[in-house]
Amino acid sequence: MAYPQGIRAYFRRSSLLRSNLYVLDAGCGTGVVTLALREALLSRGFQPGLVQGFDLTPKMLDKFRETLRTQAIEGVNIVQADALQLDTLAEGWNNFDLIVSAAMMEYLPQERLVEALSGLRLRLNKTGSLLLFITRQNWLMRLLVGHWWGANLYQATELEESLRLAGFTTIEFETFPFPYQHLSLWGHIVEAKQ
Ligand SMILES: C[S@@+](CC[C@H](N)C(=O)[O-])C[C@H]1O[C@@H](n2cnc3c(N)ncnc32)[C@H](O)[C@@H]1O
Repeated sequence: MAYPQGIRAYFRRSSLLRSNLYVLDAGCGTGVVTLALREALLSRGFQPGLVQGFDLTPKMLDKFRETLRTQAIEGVNIVQADALQLDTLAEGWNNFDLIVSAAMMEYLPQERLVEALSGLRLRLNKTGSLLLFITRQNWLMRLLVGHWWGANLYQATELEESLRLAGFTTIEFETFPFPYQHLSLWGHIVEAKQ
């Protein structure tokens, strides 16, 4: 699907990027998003800032740590944590300029989506943005992701309502750039501010 490349292409033209961004990668997994963001920052001549990441699954974190080690990447801290229990995160994991969450929120119980979004919003600074990549509800994704992976699939209207209930006021839907438009069949990209 060229998912990592699509995410990197998105970051390459994103107006959210600048030097020394303080970033949280929520549900970082093996680091696809953090690494794509870093590459985009460097390719645009920006200085990467500190990235904090968390994920529920230790094996994903181990793989991410190994990548950080072999590529000698510094300035990325990752810990095990649950998106539904953000109070376990260390002091200082707040006031983020950018919170990114990709392909994670769909695995939370649907009835707790607003709570999770709200928890992330509280960790943004006043002008910070939440960038969400999340599986779309359509027949193809119902077959591929909903059925096999047990993910919740969302329509744009449901996401917008959840983000508003979570306290976000500016909500914009974006698309994957050329030549990765096919990824829009998979997921929504939403940029939200409080
Ligand atoms: C499909 S992977 C996506 C990983 C990464 N963000 C990416 O885009 O490649 C989903 C990730 O969400 C994590 N996850 C699921 N539920 C979570 C929760 N409640 N809190 C934190 N992470 C969670 C899983 O452990 C897994 O690493």
